[in-house]
Amino acid sequence: MAEAKKFGLAGVMGWPVSHSRSPVLHNYWLRHYGLNGAYVLLPVDPALLPAAIAGLPALGFAGCNVTIPHKVNAMKLVDHVDPVARRIGAINTIVVEADGSLSGYNNDGFGYIQSLRDAHQEWRADAGPVLVMGAGGAARAVIVSLAEQGAKDIRICNRTASSAHALATEFTADFAQASDAAKGAVVTAVPWEKRHDAVAEVVLLVNTTSQGMGSNPALDLSLDQLPLQALVSDIVYIPQETPLLKDAKARGNPTAGGLGMLLHQARPAFNAWFGVMPEVTPALRQKVEATL
Ligand code: ATR
Repeated sequence: MAEAKKFGLAGVMGWPVSHSRSPVLHNYWLRHYGLNGAYVLLPVDPALLPAAIAGLPALGFAGCNVTIPHKVNAMKLVDHVDPVARRIGAINTIVVEADGSLSGYNNDGFGYIQSLRDAHQEWRADAGPVLVMGAGGAARAVIVSLAEQGAKDIRICNRTASSAHALATEFTADFAQASDAAKGAVVTAVPWEKRHDAVAEVVLLVNTTSQGMGSNPALDLSLDQLPLQALVSDIVYIPQETPLLKDAKARGNPTAGGLGMLLHQARPAFNAWFGVMPEVTPALRQKVEATL
């Protein structure tokens, strides 16, 4: 046991997982902070997820990240689930506790909020209506984090209307009963056909869809009616400047790219596993950018 503790071990479970940038950033931090340890790729077939997670303590792991397609199922396989993760409905981090039990967290929303603050220190969640494009897992983390920061009027616009409605109903009911800053936040669904008009009133526009990623087409959204001071953010980080961000910049809107979310979500996990809250620095950013 003492031997295992001297060498900190963590990793990322996904399927596939070879594209993950998490090893680059966690191994950078391990070296930077002079810690003895390693962060490894853990390709885990979905059918073997229960065995893989149950094996973490025996293998001497401090914990791991979980990514696509395991984020929802992994939540059911840990002993304790953090309230934020419970609200989001998925975990992205597992911590092996001293007694060998497993705790699940979701730091994606934390990463998202920090990335906005990094880009724009004066940003406030309660400044006005927010429009979230997309209604998948990433949208859930973004919506929860915005509500917990005090956003009161969150609008969801999704190609498939039923998913937007389901999220709006679930979160409005959840936030109505909240005892934290999310209390009273109202989440509504905006029809996909109305998306070009829906940008007219918002102070924050966020893309959580896969549009604009890699070789996918750009998000089909006109910014013509968007107020010029509205912040435009994209959680896509390949490319770093998505067509949406390019459009926004060209018309003078402030923007925030997706890389910041990836970098910042990793910080609380690293802290939980290795005991140091790491910093996102220009050097780290460069290191990860070089792999994109
Ligand atoms: P994640 O967990 O990363 O959010 P996801 O759950 O697959 O991924 O969600 C992807 C999001 O991108 C969804 O909101 C999806 O819309 P649908 O619910 O209609 O599928 C959105 N999306 C994917 N392809 C899209 C497209 N061509 N146009 C608009 N939205 C798209």
